[in-house]
Amino acid sequence: MRMAADTPVVNAWNEWDTLREMVVGSAAGAAFEPVEPGNRPQIRGRATAPFPTGRKTAEAVARAEVELDGLAALLEAQGVTVRRPTLHDFSQPLRTPHFEVENQYCAVCPRDVMITLGNEMVEATMSRRARYFEYEPYRKLVYEYWEADPRVSWTVAPKPTMADDMYRQDFWEWPLEERHARMHASEFCITQNEIVFDAADMSRLGRDILVQESMTTNRAGIRWLKRTLEPKGFRVHPVHFPLDYFPSHIDCTFIPLRPGLILTNPDRPLRDDELPMFIKDGWKLIEAPEPVLSNDEMPAYCQSSKWLSMNVLSISPDKVICEEQEKPLQDLLSSLSFEVLTVPFRNVFEYGGSLHCATWDIRRDGAKEDYFP
Ligand code: NVA
Repeated sequence: MRMAADTPVVNAWNEWDTLREMVVGSAAGAAFEPVEPGNRPQIRGRATAPFPTGRKTAEAVARAEVELDGLAALLEAQGVTVRRPTLHDFSQPLRTPHFEVENQYCAVCPRDVMITLGNEMVEATMSRRARYFEYEPYRKLVYEYWEADPRVSWTVAPKPTMADDMYRQDFWEWPLEERHARMHASEFCITQNEIVFDAADMSRLGRDILVQESMTTNRAGIRWLKRTLEPKGFRVHPVHFPLDYFPSHIDCTFIPLRPGLILTNPDRPLRDDELPMFIKDGWKLIEAPEPVLSNDEMPAYCQSSKWLSMNVLSISPDKVICEEQEKPLQDLLSSLSFEVLTVPFRNVFEYGGSLHCATWDIRRDGAKEDYFP
C-alpha cells in the first residue's frame, strides 16, 4: 500500500486529490427499483408500461459487472487499491413498522450512500424505501477501516421512518406550472418532517462542502449536516440548480475537477445568488459539451439523464476517467490539460450512475485546505 506513513487509512478532503484507495460498486444481487412514494421509475419511451420488479436478469448483471470490473482493473493499473462491497440479495422485500416495499435496489452506486469527509466515513440517511438498508454491503469495509486506524471516525445519520408523511405523494403528478412554482420554494417529493439526504447530493472542496437541495435531500438534512460538520471545521453550503425539475445527486450537474475549476451542466446553471462564492475566488465554471446520447437513447431502464456523460472520476488533479464514448467531453478535458483515461461504462447506466456514482473514495493524498479563504 503506497501511502505516507502519517496519512490516515481514511482520508479524502475533495474530489480531485491523488487517489490511493477506492470502493467500486457491484451489480451482483441487483433488483429493479420498485415504485414507491419517493420514486416512480418508468421505462424510457414507454411511460405507461409497468416497470419490471424483482431481480435483474443474469445478463444485465453480467454486462454491468464486466464494466465495473474494467473500471477496477484500470484503477489498479494506476496504482489504486480497489475494494468491492459484499454480496446482498436486493430481491428481498422489506417490512418495517412504517412501510413495506416489494424489493430493494443494488450496490452499484456506493456514492449515493457513503461519503468520506476528511477522516470520517458518513452513512447517509437515504431517501427511498428500497435503499433503506443499502449501507449493508459496505459495513464490512467500514468496520475494517474503523478498526485499522484510531484516527478514523464513522458517523451514521439518523434513519428516517420513510413513512407515508415523509413524502408528497402527489409530487409526480404536479403539472408543469405547479412544479415550477414549488421548485422555487425547493419543494419536491420529500417533506421537511424528517432529516433526509443521499450522500451523492454532496460535493467536497476542502473545508467547503456543497449540498444540493433536491428530491433526495431536504432542508432538515442540510441542517443536520451543518450542525454535525461545521463544529468540525467544515462549512456547509446549500446549492440549487433551478432549471432542474427533478434534481437528485449533484454529480451530473456541478463537478469540481481541480482547485479553481468546475465542470458545469449547461441545462442546469447554479442559482445566481450562489455564484459569488466561486466568482470571488476566481474559479472557472466550464460548461460540459452536449452528451453523445440523447435522453431518448439512454438505456430503457435507466432513470438518470443523458448527463451521466459528465459523471467523471478524478484520480488526481490532472488525470480524469471518462466514459469511453464521450469524445466531446474527453476533448474538452484534454484541452484543459487533463490526461484523460477512458473505460466503457454504458451498461452500468441502467443502474442510474456512471463512473463517479459507482465509486466511493476511501483515501486520497492531501489534507484539509481552505480554497475559499
Ligand atoms: N439525477 C441525475 C443523476 C445523477 C447521478 C440526472 O439524471 O442527471
